[in-house]
Amino acid sequence: MDYRQALAEYLSGIVSLDCETISGLLEIPPQETMGDFAFPCFALAKLLRKSPVQIASDLKSTIDASEAAPEFLARCEAVGAYLNFFIQANVYVLNTLATVLTQTGGYAAFDGRSLLDAAFESDERKQVLIEYSSPNIAKPFHVGHAFSTILGAALARIYSLAGFEVVRMNHLGDYGTQFGKLIVAYENYGDSEALEADPISELLRVYVKFHQEVEVHPELEDEARERFRRLENHEANEEALFLKFRDISIQSFKRIYKRLGVDFDNWNGESFYSDKIPEVVELMRERGVLEASEGCQVVRFDDPNLPPCLVLKSDGTTTYASRDLASVLYRERNYHFVKNIYVVGLPQSLHFKQVFAALERMNFDFAKRCEFVGFGLVKFGEGNFSTRSGNVIELETLLNEAVKKTRAIMVENAEMRSETMDEEEIDRLAEKVGVAAVIYQFVKNGRERDILFSWEDMLDFDGDTAPYLLYTGARAHSILRRSGLLDELAGLDAMDFQALAGDEEALRLTKTMEAYRVSVQQAFKQSEPFLIARALNALCRQFNRFYTRCGILKTEDLELRKFRLLLCLAFWTCLKEGLAILGIEAVERM
Ligand code: ARG
Repeated sequence: MDYRQALAEYLSGIVSLDCETISGLLEIPPQETMGDFAFPCFALAKLLRKSPVQIASDLKSTIDASEAAPEFLARCEAVGAYLNFFIQANVYVLNTLATVLTQTGGYAAFDGRSLLDAAFESDERKQVLIEYSSPNIAKPFHVGHAFSTILGAALARIYSLAGFEVVRMNHLGDYGTQFGKLIVAYENYGDSEALEADPISELLRVYVKFHQEVEVHPELEDEARERFRRLENHEANEEALFLKFRDISIQSFKRIYKRLGVDFDNWNGESFYSDKIPEVVELMRERGVLEASEGCQVVRFDDPNLPPCLVLKSDGTTTYASRDLASVLYRERNYHFVKNIYVVGLPQSLHFKQVFAALERMNFDFAKRCEFVGFGLVKFGEGNFSTRSGNVIELETLLNEAVKKTRAIMVENAEMRSETMDEEEIDRLAEKVGVAAVIYQFVKNGRERDILFSWEDMLDFDGDTAPYLLYTGARAHSILRRSGLLDELAGLDAMDFQALAGDEEALRLTKTMEAYRVSVQQAFKQSEPFLIARALNALCRQFNRFYTRCGILKTEDLELRKFRLLLCLAFWTCLKEGLAILGIEAVERM
């Protein structure tokens, strides 16, 4: 039940504003005593030529006398310029419970299309392309790529819940003159066994060695250029080596993706688009947007703050921007996308502005369907991390360390657990909780903020962390198991608990469930999964309060106990669903 929507519909019959405007105006009051929704009357003052305070009090009288007021409305109060609405506790609680417990396609599932900008309103298109992760082959998978991967995968899940057909794209960085160098380096200094064992390290090693050797043997540089040229011409030897590097890189990335529970539908990297560039350049010439500048080919823009987009270098070679232009044209042809979203770090924001502006200059109306979703930098507090390879922090190292530390905490606190666990189960759990702790760091704050990693914050079992959320979920599940009623609960109808549903703690708990549901839509509108993380944290805080105050299993009255267990089950259902959106799997015991 969407109370905001229903209330807005009702009010639109009383005041001269449309439903959408009212829905936008309705606020959630800062205090419980001020009701569930507040309608500020300022917007009506000009229209009605009355003071907002007077309007609020007049509206209250109208509503009190109205027959059409929705069933869920307990009362309304005029306080100053505001009209505060109170929802009937038992209706609210039972409705929410029933929806959570009987949903099949996800409690938070919604119609995303109706929330898109007006520009997309009458859209027949179904597919949403989300490009994320996009690491560079033969290079380490670092924490910046982790940010893109975790954020992008969460957005992909949100768009699926919103009813779109999502295409997950991994735009691998697999093109560039450095591959000529890598081929020379590997042929001269490579070790095939080391390559099998730890491909990225081996490729990194020979690449570094190449740069040392070039100081003494500058002719290596020419050889690398020649080998890159041959690669571009698809010569067998170079292409085979390149494909091997690409293949083993992807395999090692897949190991990481598996741990993160992430996958892709499309792995076309930059090299896939490189031979589609001549056609794009031709099209740009036809449409008159290319200009010569110091021997290069560029697109200029009217906006004085937007530097020209470099399409071809003076020696005729292609650029990062030209590959992105070729790829977006390819995407438009092969997918009829509602949106084409790029989840890439903020430092590339200018690049994407240029690409989108170039599309606009070419009069492609799908330019407006392209969206850049940027994110901040990942930093590590002093002494929190020592790096192996320069200043790049590899995700795998971070994950391993997090799992190790989580395991140590679990073993140390073994006496906290009610159930015994064997070593294997502890390993399995430490992996889940440790990885979740890392994932959560990337989604707990607004994406444009920089992340500062610290082990203390990240593994604090009482803080705003994945271990805290998982622990609370496991506590709920343990209560359900111990109740011995788990099977029976699934068959109960929430509506049979009319008499009990007025309970204040129950109301507070179901309100945080509803707030979670709404947070998913807000996360969708703003491309901000952290709103879901924040709602889940509030949900867990409230569950713990409910648990302490109500002592669920100790409840004497059997009916009341069942009702509280039902709330517990609904909580577990919401938490599991919300965590899954963020890429975290809930655990039944911990
Ligand atoms: N591979 C690039 C990097 O690691 C990110 C690619 C972003 N996507 C794009 N279509 N340009 O920085």
